[in-house]
Amino acid sequence: MTEQDVLRLDAEDPLAPLRARFAVPEGVTYLDGNSLGPPLHTARAAMDAVIAEQWGADLIASWNTHDWIGLPQRVGARIAPLVGGAADEVIVSDSVSVNLFKLIAAVCLARPHRRTILTEPGNFPTDLYIAQGVAGMLADRKVRTEPAEAIIDAIDHDTALVLLTHVHYKSGRRHDMAAIAAAAHAKGTLVLWDLSHSAGAVAIDLAGCQADLAVGCGYKFFNGGPGAPGFLYVARRLQGELQSPLAGWMGHAAPFDFDDGYRPAEGMQRFLCGTPPILAMAALDHALSVFDGIDMGLVEHKALALGDMFLELVEVQCGAFGFDLASPRERHGRGAHISFAHPQAYAICQALIARRVVGDFRAPDLLRMGFAPLTTRFIDVWRTVGILHDVMATGAWADPIFAIRQKVT
Ligand SMILES: Cc1ncc(COP(=O)(O)O)c(C=O)c1O
Repeated sequence: MTEQDVLRLDAEDPLAPLRARFAVPEGVTYLDGNSLGPPLHTARAAMDAVIAEQWGADLIASWNTHDWIGLPQRVGARIAPLVGGAADEVIVSDSVSVNLFKLIAAVCLARPHRRTILTEPGNFPTDLYIAQGVAGMLADRKVRTEPAEAIIDAIDHDTALVLLTHVHYKSGRRHDMAAIAAAAHAKGTLVLWDLSHSAGAVAIDLAGCQADLAVGCGYKFFNGGPGAPGFLYVARRLQGELQSPLAGWMGHAAPFDFDDGYRPAEGMQRFLCGTPPILAMAALDHALSVFDGIDMGLVEHKALALGDMFLELVEVQCGAFGFDLASPRERHGRGAHISFAHPQAYAICQALIARRVVGDFRAPDLLRMGFAPLTTRFIDVWRTVGILHDVMATGAWADPIFAIRQKVT
């Protein structure tokens, strides 16, 4: 493979024109869109308009005149086709952590005789902690962890919920949603998917996979901005049965009746809690416009092709430097990021950042590179591996400055 071959791949990429809509700083190779997506060039103007023309002009009337009250549903409806759900099965609200709490607790409360929440060791910490929190709060429940390959066999009639992250945040390994749903349903168990590392990066067919429940992130591949609200998916067939334990007024059937007693709304509205953060939701809504009409099959194809290229080039060019592949080699077994284990991963990551290649480090020893398909070019991958080779061959990573740990890694 030559640089000319790589440039040809970019020239032939049908998604390439979308990159021009994003503000990626000149000279920066950004391989961290799986942690925080970059803003659209139009993000500031869109936010200015919401502030000046809605908040500033219509003040509180905006809840009606600009349908702020319907924003959680409207943004949810925009996400729905990107994850294979129907418009009335997705709503935007709160953080991923809070949404996990709402759905895990809702299932435990609806299935009082099933005591186990089944997940895998090494799942994203917030997923594990929230599950532990719910189990502790309900006292008679427990969290059981089994390795990914043993999950299906571990589901039994005591399992209330299987809680898994679709694409693992470290390895990028992707679970088989349909197979796990089928095994769970055979035992009367529900499955809750954390789509944080897959929504917006790979093709997801929640309906086709008989998915029950899902949550996902607004600030990664959906580019909604730091701390953007997350989303929840509840299959229509479960919406009447499950009830949020955070019975806030926005989830009430008639919030503006100001009743003393809680009566859950029909449909997804019951999974809202408090007043939606309109500015943050408007930013996410605007960011999602880039996905309008997009073919998620093409998006996934590009993500996997970028990953294949990175994997191959690192092994060929940097094979002598002690990198160990920590992601599935087989492209359909993973999502849009690749991790390599290396004892000096932290310093190497910092040395790359000093050369304006932004990836990230995941403790204890992973160098993780994300290939957000709308913003990453094949030439970015090519240049990154060239720079990685240089950082390793020259020993540049060993500069003590690169060993200093920041608060956020
Ligand atoms: C799989 C997964 N779940 C959840 C989160 C974060 O949840 P929250 O938005 O509540 O911080 C992340 C963040 O990186 C994640 O990777």
